[in-house]
Amino acid sequence: MPVKTIAWENNSLVILDQTLLPTEERYAVLETVEDVHRAILRLEVRGAPAIGAAAALGLYVAVQHGAFPTYDSLKNALRQAADFLASSRPTAVNLTWALERMTEVAEGMPGAEPEAVKRALLDEALAIMAEDREACRAIGRHGQGLLADGSRILTHCNAGGLATVDYGTALGVVYAALEAGKKIRVYADETRPLLQGARLTAWELQKSGVPVTLICDGMAAAVMARGLVDCVITGADRIAANGDTANKIGTYGLAVLAREHGLPFYVAAPLSSFDLGQPSGDKIPIEERDPDEVRLFRGVRTAPPGVDVFNPAFDLTPHRYVTAFVTERGIIRPPFAETLKGLSDR
Ligand code: MRU
Repeated sequence: MPVKTIAWENNSLVILDQTLLPTEERYAVLETVEDVHRAILRLEVRGAPAIGAAAALGLYVAVQHGAFPTYDSLKNALRQAADFLASSRPTAVNLTWALERMTEVAEGMPGAEPEAVKRALLDEALAIMAEDREACRAIGRHGQGLLADGSRILTHCNAGGLATVDYGTALGVVYAALEAGKKIRVYADETRPLLQGARLTAWELQKSGVPVTLICDGMAAAVMARGLVDCVITGADRIAANGDTANKIGTYGLAVLAREHGLPFYVAAPLSSFDLGQPSGDKIPIEERDPDEVRLFRGVRTAPPGVDVFNPAFDLTPHRYVTAFVTERGIIRPPFAETLKGLSDR
């Protein structure tokens, strides 16, 4: 990746502030748990795996400089900070997955010296980041086998290096196909209202030298009808045990369109995005965001003041539209209620 999304540097959590892209490439140091909560909420750091990594390091940041007289006082502070971070965004399961992994580390060391617990927490957060890097590379390796030379891929939102610690999931498949010598073109949906496709995917691909064509969300049907794409690949924020998939608002529509046009619809995601405790997608919490995200863009009014707005950040794609999941363990095909069994690393 030509940019770093999230890093632990000089004992500090550093993120690329994605709200400023593509006009400005600015890194921010998140010094407190409040900084981390705000950065996740505002989408300065976003994308399910990157949110998980930020939360893991954020939990360490929450206690890093605190003086804790006892193990229990540290454990209580961690619990509070974990609850606070978990309240930042509800849909991506990677957030609670990472926080649970972190709190389990602390709970597995009852009575230990607070400084030893802190060291173990940092190690765990760094392990979560390293595993995400590995998972994305493996997703790429498995997924690129699905793409023929010359493939044209439609993607939505940003499931690239910017959404993960590095490399990406849906875009990881693209990068791996290019590394395997295939000729690839990406069609990127702009992804209203916050334009992750236009601001982030188009930027990331261009920076990596990947041929990319930007389209407005409403153009996807026409692009498919003209035979300009061969498949759709998206990421996921949470996948239920039957394969129902929550991802950026607009994904469901693309899946239906892909079916209508006879195109495969692939979801590329690490195991940390699977929530096999949910039998189906109907209980997955769907975040609703500030209506002004739809009424304005970066402060410029694009709708009448006060107009009613509906602004769900994600939608649910029923499993029957998913051709296959691309995970670090390989390609998983229907019937998902069977094939996803035992997949969890929880
Ligand atoms: O609101 P965002 O930008 O965090 O939404 C991101 C997505 O929907 C991604 O597709 C998903 O998190 C997968 S990222 C590998």
